[in-house]
Amino acid sequence: MDLVTQTAEMQARAIEARARGRRIGLVPTMGALHEGHLSLVRVARRETEWVVVSLFVNPAQFGPTEDLARYPRDLETDRRLLEAERVDILYAPSVEQVYPAGFQTFLQLEELGQRLDGASRPGHFRGVATVVAKLFLVVQPHRAYFGQKDAAQVAVIRRLVRDLSFPVQVVACPIVREADGLAMSSRNRYLNPEQRRAALSLSRGLREVEARFAAGERSAAELREVLRETVCAEPLARLDYAEVVDPDTLLPVALVEGPTLAAVAAWIGETRLIDNSVLA
Ligand code: PAJ
Repeated sequence: MDLVTQTAEMQARAIEARARGRRIGLVPTMGALHEGHLSLVRVARRETEWVVVSLFVNPAQFGPTEDLARYPRDLETDRRLLEAERVDILYAPSVEQVYPAGFQTFLQLEELGQRLDGASRPGHFRGVATVVAKLFLVVQPHRAYFGQKDAAQVAVIRRLVRDLSFPVQVVACPIVREADGLAMSSRNRYLNPEQRRAALSLSRGLREVEARFAAGERSAAELREVLRETVCAEPLARLDYAEVVDPDTLLPVALVEGPTLAAVAAWIGETRLIDNSVLA
């Protein structure tokens, strides 16, 4: 595995790989890798010939009061994990490589970018869309792999790809969970043992929604209430949102008819966690 830190070198190598007829797979990450990230890498390894994992803690997607400064960073461990997955290129640029001095050009999804996490984190999806578009142009992947854990992010990226005709196939991979149901996240390492227990209220709420759906409940309002109540019953959790929405538009539905996204976000202490489930 080669480590590439310069944008120009990354792009030159991608152009060369394409010229050699390689199918390029890209897995964008912010590092502090766990089994969720590695599951994407394994799918990419299976489906494409030249696998690039990007590792960049993107300042543009963090709000001024968020955890950019303390976001976990451990390049050496990440590098070992990716080496073991037979990744071809680890692309780990500096902030200056991604946002050269005088950077001006941002991408904004007018309405979709303001829903769910976009509503609670103003500017978040502007930062995500900008960095992902730049990664697509630099790494030139045929396929790019994202986790369903960040369901709103998947909707935003799919829209971005359609709107701007990026020649990239977006692949969404299932949520990887700890044995007790907690969705894996780099932010889980912020949690103390008591908070770690409280964090289970998100997945518990979603399991409750799934059970009610399986029992025939189709009212989105009822299902949303089940999710809200389960999370609010946990004293250490502060609900951010509990929504039942269309997975593409992220707009609320009244009835669950086609595939529908039940999504939840909550603060456990200073840590904001998200989770979701697709009802179908
Ligand atoms: P990050 O949070 O590091 O996540 C990188 C990718 O791993 C995302 O596509 C995310 O959905 C996926 N992922 C995280 N936890 C997962 C889990 N438990 N199961 C399955 N997939 C999981 O998402 C980002 O970084 C950034 O916004 C990024 C796309 C890199 C742009 O900066």
